Amino acid sequence: MQTSHTPTSISIPLTQTFTDFSVSNQFELKPWINQLWAKDECTARHAFRVAKAAVALGEKLALDECQLRDLWLSAFLHDIGKVQIEDAILNKPAQLESSEQRVMKTHPERGFELLEKKGVSPRISAAVRFHHERWDGGGYPFGLEGEQIPLFSRIIAVVDAFDALANRRPYRKPLGFPDAAQVIAACAGTQFDPKVVKAFFLITSP
Ligand SMILES: [Fe+2]
Repeated sequence: MQTSHTPTSISIPLTQTFTDFSVSNQFELKPWINQLWAKDECTARHAFRVAKAAVALGEKLALDECQLRDLWLSAFLHDIGKVQIEDAILNKPAQLESSEQRVMKTHPERGFELLEKKGVSPRISAAVRFHHERWDGGGYPFGLEGEQIPLFSRIIAVVDAFDALANRRPYRKPLGFPDAAQVIAACAGTQFDPKVVKAFFLITSP
């Protein structure tokens, strides 16, 4: 999909910022934030950005207040399973070996199990579990496809990928905004739900 303009930033037209850590009446969020921050500041910063962008996107998809709150939590916690991944893999300043990739790919399931143990809403734990599934069925851990994948996971997949491309990673430099946006557009209908990609471009500004 080609956009009619060259986006340079994401505008977040939030009416509510969800900065209050008591946002959830299901569980106390602050320990999760501390745990993620202590493990890896880069992942924690990524979690906040992804949560913010996911809610902006959810607003464009006309999700209600309760859905947006759970979406914020799901997106913030999407990589929480990484707290169990060893630092040598998580922060490796190079591409991962295939054995290391296998370990890294356990993080959605680890996150799901952590949240399930805490009794977090199934809507949130499922969103975390399936955030690396692909629209075309080529993702992991289960190879779900299309609308078998929960909507929250499909939203997180887009904003997570964009944020990863647009920001520095241990093993590569960031792409500029237009290039990162172009990658997202090119993956509509394969990696990503086209409807979600369309909404993503509504939160980008020229
Ligand atoms: Fe992830």
